[in-house]
Amino acid sequence: MKFFVDTADIDAIRDLNETGMVDGVTTNPSLIAKSGRDINEVTKEICDMVDGPVSAEVVALDFDQMLKEGRHLAKIADNICVKVPLTWAGLRTCKALTDEGTKVNVTLCFSANQALLAAKAGATFISPFIGRLDDLNLDGMDLIGDIRTIYDNYGFETEILAASIRNANHMKDAALMGADVATAPPGVIKGMINHVLTDKGLDGFMADVKKAGIKIL
Ligand code: E4P
Repeated sequence: MKFFVDTADIDAIRDLNETGMVDGVTTNPSLIAKSGRDINEVTKEICDMVDGPVSAEVVALDFDQMLKEGRHLAKIADNICVKVPLTWAGLRTCKALTDEGTKVNVTLCFSANQALLAAKAGATFISPFIGRLDDLNLDGMDLIGDIRTIYDNYGFETEILAASIRNANHMKDAALMGADVATAPPGVIKGMINHVLTDKGLDGFMADVKKAGIKIL
């Protein structure tokens, strides 16, 4: 499973990139607003740093303007993936941009039928939002499973990008369900390493290193 980082925080992306954990980046208008940066500038900076798709989201709601914004964003760098909402205007924009060779991430997916429409519109990625479904006491992971089955039934090449990931268990479950990609905030990816027995085991080894005076160099 590929890991995308869900942030527009340059320092956090750089930090994780150095561990080889960054296969791409996703942003959205809320994350851009949180960064306090100009969308064009920060997106370019992320694209230069990361060797993988960087999703940048349009803000228009109508097809003509959405397509213009998508074409503009696509010119920022070769690794831009234009993110469009799961509306008819978004699907039409998805079809137009993919026909031009631009990667498209269709976002705000909450049902298998929506994912089916996005695949038929030629989406590169579909982003089902796990955490926001869980917030409503629904099971976001069931949606990943349903989309996996439907895409496999018909050989759709659209990649399933599990989004709105809130914790390390979501990462594990997305991998078990066969998501192609999971996008998560930096803190969630970093939290995947935590295990009390790793900490305890290392404490024990270090105590013996000290006791025996073990030196390698
Ligand atoms: C993904 O592309 C979205 O930006 C993101 O995962 C949304 O997550 P949230 O529901 O935690 O805002």
